[in-house]
Amino acid sequence: MKALVLIGGLGTRLRPITYSVPKQLIPIAGQPMLYHVLDLLPSDVEEVVLASGYKAEAIDRYVRDHPPRWPVRTVREVEPLGTGGGMRNAADGMSDPFFLLNSDVIARADLAAMARRRAERDAIGVMALASVDDTRPFGVAALDAEDRITAFVEKPEPKDAPSHWINAGLAVWRRSVLDRIPSGRPSSFEREVVPHLLDRRVFGFRLAAYWDDAGTPERLLHAQRLLFDDGRGGPGTVPPGATGTGPVAVLEGANVDGAVFGSYVTVGRRSRIGAGARIENSVIMDDAEIGEGAIVTGSLVGPSVRVLAGSRVENATLGAGPS
Ligand code: GTP
Repeated sequence: MKALVLIGGLGTRLRPITYSVPKQLIPIAGQPMLYHVLDLLPSDVEEVVLASGYKAEAIDRYVRDHPPRWPVRTVREVEPLGTGGGMRNAADGMSDPFFLLNSDVIARADLAAMARRRAERDAIGVMALASVDDTRPFGVAALDAEDRITAFVEKPEPKDAPSHWINAGLAVWRRSVLDRIPSGRPSSFEREVVPHLLDRRVFGFRLAAYWDDAGTPERLLHAQRLLFDDGRGGPGTVPPGATGTGPVAVLEGANVDGAVFGSYVTVGRRSRIGAGARIENSVIMDDAEIGEGAIVTGSLVGPSVRVLAGSRVENATLGAGPS
């Protein structure tokens, strides 16, 4: 099977960071979001196809320099085509069935088991579903006793939500679904196509472990906590020269001498954390500089951002504006 990864969104909810970096390259628990998503793929996947658009060059460059386990091919959109248009644009040569992955979901999920379930049930698709309290930002599924999806409602008002099981952004589909997507124009696969596939048997696959959509600053930091707690953030130990509790992931070339780490922190490449600076529950991106004695908590500090010595940054997303 191949995997089609949707990676062309603008990532508006993570601005201003996504003005300079596509969200999939934001490091969480030590590696870019995209690589945590790819880690879910079974090792025998034949090819990963990136349906790319926004900042595709940066993603291609990173993938070339840090090759994943699978061959990777990029199919670019000139204009954003939405999830449906992006899938249709990348349809040539797709396997039957194929994995469909959003590039911003952090989860523990057994994709091979999802593929087996699709085959056993002779279904056109199987969608991973996550249980959430607030269904408003998501597509919500109604399920029958056998977990067949009987209705799928995108971003309903709470009173109209048929359950608390939402589209987790990980699925297995027969190739034929790609033919159902209008070509040459933007479209939403979830809104315009999925509801019309239900009569061809679509099953839900309820995720029992953790899941989050790392598309907002708060949820991205929550996803980082999930990854560290699951041991997917590397050893997480505080490096020599720094003190504190961790877990922390410090990437190549960063200088953290004298820094004090609380829990759940990633420090990007070549970043400098000044002596006595305290960092907790945050992501400091590449080439950033945190001045001596500064305090950074619950924040995303974008690439090359300078936080002045002695200042305090709380629950903030810092980055350069649009160029
Ligand atoms: P926001 O602007 O913050 O909503 O983020 P987003 O643009 O990534 O949108 P959203 O989180 O809803 O996207 C879900 C998934 O679809 C992500 O993996 C996106 O990269 C992807 N996606 C969204 N729009 C497009 C698009 O136009 N083309 C492609 N190829 N992928 C898209």
